[in-house]
Amino acid sequence: MSTRTLIRGGLVVTAAEETHADVLIEDGRIAALAASGTAAAGTWTAERVVDATDKYVIPGGVDAHTHMEFPFGGTFSSDTFETGTRAAAWGGTTTIVDFAVQSKGKALRAGLDAWHAKADGNCAIDYAFHMIVSDVNEATLKQMDGLIEEGVSSFKLFMAYPGVFYSDDGQILRAMQRAGENGGLIMMHAENGIAIDVLVEQALARGQTDPRYHGEVRKALLEAEATHRAIKLAQVAGAPLYVVHVSAREAVAELTRARDEGLPVFGETCPQYLFLSTDNLAEPDFEGAKYVCSTPLRPQEHQAALWRGLRTNDLQVVSTDHCPFCFSGQKELGRGDFSKIPNGMPGVEHRMDLLHQAVVDGHISRRRWIEIACATPARMFGLYPKKGTIAPGADADVVIYDPHAEQTLSAATHHMNVDYSAYEGKRLTGRVETVLSRGEPVITAREFTGRAGHGAYLARGTCQYLD
Ligand code: URP
Ligand code: ZN
Ligand code: ZN
Ligand code: ZN
Repeated sequence: MSTRTLIRGGLVVTAAEETHADVLIEDGRIAALAASGTAAAGTWTAERVVDATDKYVIPGGVDAHTHMEFPFGGTFSSDTFETGTRAAAWGGTTTIVDFAVQSKGKALRAGLDAWHAKADGNCAIDYAFHMIVSDVNEATLKQMDGLIEEGVSSFKLFMAYPGVFYSDDGQILRAMQRAGENGGLIMMHAENGIAIDVLVEQALARGQTDPRYHGEVRKALLEAEATHRAIKLAQVAGAPLYVVHVSAREAVAELTRARDEGLPVFGETCPQYLFLSTDNLAEPDFEGAKYVCSTPLRPQEHQAALWRGLRTNDLQVVSTDHCPFCFSGQKELGRGDFSKIPNGMPGVEHRMDLLHQAVVDGHISRRRWIEIACATPARMFGLYPKKGTIAPGADADVVIYDPHAEQTLSAATHHMNVDYSAYEGKRLTGRVETVLSRGEPVITAREFTGRAGHGAYLARGTCQYLD
């Protein structure tokens, strides 16, 4: 049995265009669009009619970088796949791509199976996986091919965190060579972790233990250096490269230079780098720990370079890197030693709204909002046009967005399973009203009407961004 849904009277915004159109949904997919008020739309009948007058009708957000139940620093990020995907839905995100982790000495498959077990039956929205490769060797290089065939076509490597996730340049080059052959996409955490560990040790020896020193030792230059090195290694390997969580203007400059040379290198940034700064890391009474993530927040003057990169397409994607740890009991593990604060920040619920605020503030256009938050992440990670747009045949992942509603972000009202908000008290214009996932109402007029287990696993294709 199939329910038809008609969304009437809204402004449909995709990465490509904006049109006043009615949207007909059938069998979980977009069936047709017709200009509002035309005869075609007038004859459509549906069991469910949603009035979107004065609202935007946009594709569900695609958050290509989340960490639910992520093991880090002796603890786990505090959102499960159930709580995290529910919070994502509240914020208008209908697809996440989370990171499965290979444990050292184990097969990639074992890590992937473990992440399937965490997510299966628990998600409110659709989900897919990238693979963190923490042990590049002959066996795991071969295993990459099999994962790509199963829909896990992107692999995160770390130039940071020696002894944990770290890969050396030889391992990175080998993985990139393999990706150049098998169509995989290497995602890079670009920070010089060996140099950073020296600076951490020296800072602690000087008694510099507060959260703000996390930002001081993880220098912008060491992000830029690693970004440069990753680009050159990818060039040598003949592989494309996607640099995750770019925060330093010097790193944006490296990406810009490479792209001007015509290299297939891509960059992602996150709302925390666009809206927060080292001022937050310096908040007294250990409050700065709430903002400890890597790459770290930067001085405010870096933000202009990130916004510019998003406008010039030197940065293509905004993801959240959602990796929440409660202040109480988790962030507190690093009282007296900033290097023991679990790295990561909550944000999966607020990406679409914060980027809409960027539209209101004039940083980006409305279509660019949808491009960096929906369409490009879908294309980058092989999910387009099933996800990321509103077009006949696409999954009916649709958000009715009220661009005039006002809201104030707060831990008291958010839905993420974490005891603080990184944006406490921040006022925003614009709010999600209704969210459909494959035609099913997950949020209905600001009520959660979804369920754990509705969300399906998405086997992805390879990167479509260069197609
Ligand atoms: O601080 C962060 N970003 N935590 C999550 C792990 C990562 O490096 O993306
Ligand atoms: Zn209008
Ligand atoms: Zn990272
Ligand atoms: Zn991450």
